[in-house]
Amino acid sequence: MNFAAILAGGKGTRMGNMDKPKQYLDLAGKPIIAYTVEKFLVMPEFEKVLVLCPEAWVQPTRDILEKAFGANDKLVVIQGGADRNGTVMNAVAYIEENYGVDDETVICTHDSVRPFVTYRIIKENLDAMASYDACDTVIPATDTIVVSEGGKEIDSIPERSKMYQGQTPQTFKVAKLKALQESLTQEEKQILTDACKISVLRGVPCALVEGETFNLKITYPSDLKMAQALLGMEA
Ligand code: CTP
Repeated sequence: MNFAAILAGGKGTRMGNMDKPKQYLDLAGKPIIAYTVEKFLVMPEFEKVLVLCPEAWVQPTRDILEKAFGANDKLVVIQGGADRNGTVMNAVAYIEENYGVDDETVICTHDSVRPFVTYRIIKENLDAMASYDACDTVIPATDTIVVSEGGKEIDSIPERSKMYQGQTPQTFKVAKLKALQESLTQEEKQILTDACKISVLRGVPCALVEGETFNLKITYPSDLKMAQALLGMEA
């Protein structure tokens, strides 16, 4: 059974002073989150699409999504966590409590603020679960990556051909993800906020799925402008 988890529990502080978290901002007449949710909602591969948002936004999110898609019992809106990883784990707990977890239970986690994810990317994430317990979506790094411990001088410059930039979806076998999380000490939980990183550190092979440069994450006001331009190109 496959579940989508749309991560919408953040506040979007880097977006500046907004009256609402960035995932609810308007993009050509529709909230960003509606574009993202739609990509998963239309896929019969998913049993449920869970949307995890700040507590105060649970009811408004239900209203926004009902307006966009009508009443749809494939959609479940619940509260996210204090950080991104906490939000992922709330989704895992919900799945476990309501549906049970076996070796075939899969969770496909995706940032609510990446509205341009494609069917191909999501499908390749799900397909990777035939031979992996974890997978990440990435694009080859275009800029040279420079490593600096203290931020004052260069320590090393890794070979660019081996560098990738992480996007989402990130997809996991739920049972494995839960076991990995439970293996973390309190201290590790503070530092290890990326579920793919946890997999790698614990020796769980994590497959790569090729993303797209346009699968951008809306983080800063300039990204919103870029998203508007991309939509214009689609039309
Ligand atoms: N996210 C989440 N739960 C949290 C924090 C973040 O589900 N407690 C989600 C965000 O809603 C977003 C995604 O994780 O869809 C990527 O995170 P980021 O872009 O960092 O979002 P914010 O935390 O909202 O942004 P900022 O860091 O600028 O405050």
